[in-house]
Amino acid sequence: MSTQTPIRRTTVPQIAARKGGDPIVSLTSYHAHTAAIVDKYADFILVGDSLGMVMHGMDSTLGVSLDLMIMHGKAVMRGTQRALVVVDMPFGSYEESPAIAFRNAARIMKETGCGAVKLEGGARMADTIRFLTERGIPVMAHIGLTPQSSNVMGGFKTQGRDEDDWPLHEADAKAVTQAGAFAIVLEGMVEPLAALITKQVAIPTIGIGASAECDGQILVLEDMLGLNAWTPKFVKVYGDLGPAIDRAVSQYAQEVKDRSFPGEDEVYR
Ligand code: KIV
Repeated sequence: MSTQTPIRRTTVPQIAARKGGDPIVSLTSYHAHTAAIVDKYADFILVGDSLGMVMHGMDSTLGVSLDLMIMHGKAVMRGTQRALVVVDMPFGSYEESPAIAFRNAARIMKETGCGAVKLEGGARMADTIRFLTERGIPVMAHIGLTPQSSNVMGGFKTQGRDEDDWPLHEADAKAVTQAGAFAIVLEGMVEPLAALITKQVAIPTIGIGASAECDGQILVLEDMLGLNAWTPKFVKVYGDLGPAIDRAVSQYAQEVKDRSFPGEDEVYR
C-alpha cells in the first residue's frame, strides 16, 4: 500500500471561504508547462478565453470555440496538481438557455476534469448560474467589463466612471451571488465601485484592472511576463520574456548563419 499522501487540489468551498481573508492569488494559463509553474503560487488558475487573442492571434475572444477551451483546459489540468482550475465558457456556449449552458459546462467539466467554469454577465445570467450550481457545476461569475460583450459596450472601457451606473453593477454582483456563484471577477472597474461591491457581497471578488480593494487578483500570465507587445494600462509587467525570447532566437539565428552553432560534442554532454 502506498504511504504517500496525495496532493489535494484547492476546492471551490476553500476559495469561497477566503472572503475577506488572505488575498486570493490567481493567473491565467493555457498550457501544461506554464501551468506547472503557476501551480506553485496560485490558488486558482483560469483557462481564460483570452487565449483566443494571446495564443491564437484572434482580434477578440468571440471566435473561441468550446473545443479550443477544452483542449487548453486538458493541458492545464495535466500540468497542475494543487490549484483549482477554472475554465471559461466561450461566447455562444451558454447565453441561449440554462439547459444549453448546462450541456456545455458539463462537457467542459467531464472532458477536462476542471473544478469550475466561469461565465460573463450579471443579473441577466443569474438564472443560468442558479441552474448550473443546483446541478453540480460551480460557477465563477464575471462582471464589469465583459469582453464577450465588447461589441455592445462599444469597446473595452473602464466601468463605473459615471456614478449613475453603479447601481447596475451592484445589482449584477448581488444577483450572481444570490444565484450561487462562488466568486466574481470584477474586470475594468473604478476602485470605489470595486471596493463597494467587495463590501456588499458575501463571496470573494477577484480584480483585474479593478484595484487592490478586491479579495484577490488575476492577471493574464503572458501580459505580466512581458510577452505581449501591448498590455492594458493597469498591468504591472513582472518579466521580460518577450525581449528574452527575442535575444535567444536572434543569437541562435546568428550562430546558424555564421556557422558557430555548437558541434555535436558540445551539445550532447
Ligand atoms: O479570459 C480571461 O483571461 C479572463 C480574465 C481577464 C479574467 O476572463
